[in-house]
Amino acid sequence: MSDPLPVVRRVADLRAVIAGWRKDGLSVGLVPTMGALHDGHFSLVRASTEQNDRTCVTLFVNPKQFGEGEDFGTYPRDEKTDAAALSALGPDLLYAPAGDEMYPVQMATSVSVPGLGDWLEGEFRPGFFTGVATVVTKLLLQALPDRAYFGEKDYQQLCLVRRLTTDLNIPVEIIGCPIIREASGLALSSRNAYLTDAQGAIAPGLSLALRQAAAEIAGGSDIAAAIEAATGTILEAGFANVDYVAVRDAASLQPATLHDGNQRILAAAWLGDVRLIDNREI
Ligand code: PAF
Repeated sequence: MSDPLPVVRRVADLRAVIAGWRKDGLSVGLVPTMGALHDGHFSLVRASTEQNDRTCVTLFVNPKQFGEGEDFGTYPRDEKTDAAALSALGPDLLYAPAGDEMYPVQMATSVSVPGLGDWLEGEFRPGFFTGVATVVTKLLLQALPDRAYFGEKDYQQLCLVRRLTTDLNIPVEIIGCPIIREASGLALSSRNAYLTDAQGAIAPGLSLALRQAAAEIAGGSDIAAAIEAATGTILEAGFANVDYVAVRDAASLQPATLHDGNQRILAAAWLGDVRLIDNREI
């Protein structure tokens, strides 16, 4: 059995541990998570332990990135199971702050990224990216790692984090890691746990529709036509509603109307009351 993973819950304790690592000249990787860990998170932890002398995983279910009526109250929380799974992978520290450590009552500051934070997910989840940008900025400033790891599954989040660290001169390298998928194509997500068996059988339809559209666009098909076809395919697969299917520049996320080789197709769709997102490189 692996040794239990040391846990700290206070910024001061996190900084003391990291200061000790720095004194020894060690590099530090940070893997921010909200727990409910799966192979997607584990791939981030592996990338960090390979590329850094020390790795700190953070676990904080961030209330500021959940809108009214969203699943903050029911979001899966099981720190013990997450910590046990992490121990086997060899990170060095778990930082799991309480809500009032991250957000003292008097906190008045927030970080928002207009434009990038308002499109796509931002349009359907108002306030979501301000919540993400605020907590990620805080985590990066609390830990000051050399590198921080984010999955391409939340592709817009990754672009936004790159933008804000550049804009605010936060001295960290942001590393994006590929989406981990089930054999069916379904992108791993903590929210997949909400799917019934019947919904689980339909869910891969989202990724398959995006794969097909990406291949068509790469092969020269009209982007608008490919988006329309993908939307139809997702609905035919059994999804109740499609929030968006969009083709965007892979770095800026600006809308793309002509294929130029550096683009991403992104989508969000509803299966019952479960909202799934996915994206593919074109
Ligand atoms: O991707 C997530 O799990 C969260 O958005 C993050 C980056 C940990 C911020 O709460």
